[in-house]
Amino acid sequence: MPADNMSADKLSPPENPLRARAAAVRENAHAPYSKFKVGAAIRAASGTVYVGCNVENVAYPEGTCAEAGAIAAMVAAGETQLTEAYVIADCPAPVPPCGGCRQKLKEFGATDVSVTLATTDGVEQTTTIGDLLPGAFDAGYMERS
Ligand code: THU
Repeated sequence: MPADNMSADKLSPPENPLRARAAAVRENAHAPYSKFKVGAAIRAASGTVYVGCNVENVAYPEGTCAEAGAIAAMVAAGETQLTEAYVIADCPAPVPPCGGCRQKLKEFGATDVSVTLATTDGVEQTTTIGDLLPGAFDAGYMERS
């Protein structure tokens, strides 16, 4: 008889380590207008994790998304390749990145890069950059034969 913590029916998948980072930075979001706090954590090619939260502005269009903040931190640190992303918010279903953030993720990640969308309740949906942005515009479209 295996010890309790070894029995198969009691094993649950290990928590994605990006979740804690995204949830923690979400607490710092500046969202006084929407009251909708978002946290993002991205892993770069080096293995380093960068985080970002949404930062709203009284001039509404000047606000920035959590994903944009995490990407900016990665680029500022000298990295340009992301290998995994995690986004979390307090909403009824895993938070879908906005269209602009899908394009921003695409700029720095391959189509098969995993993106986990989550609620603060623990519901997760894992997808890829390619599935989030089918038919993406990229540099190839700027080439003439
Ligand atoms: N928001 C994000 O930070 N990421 C997304 O992908 C969706 C939306 C933020 C922007 C704004 O501060 C708030 O959520 C409401 O739209």
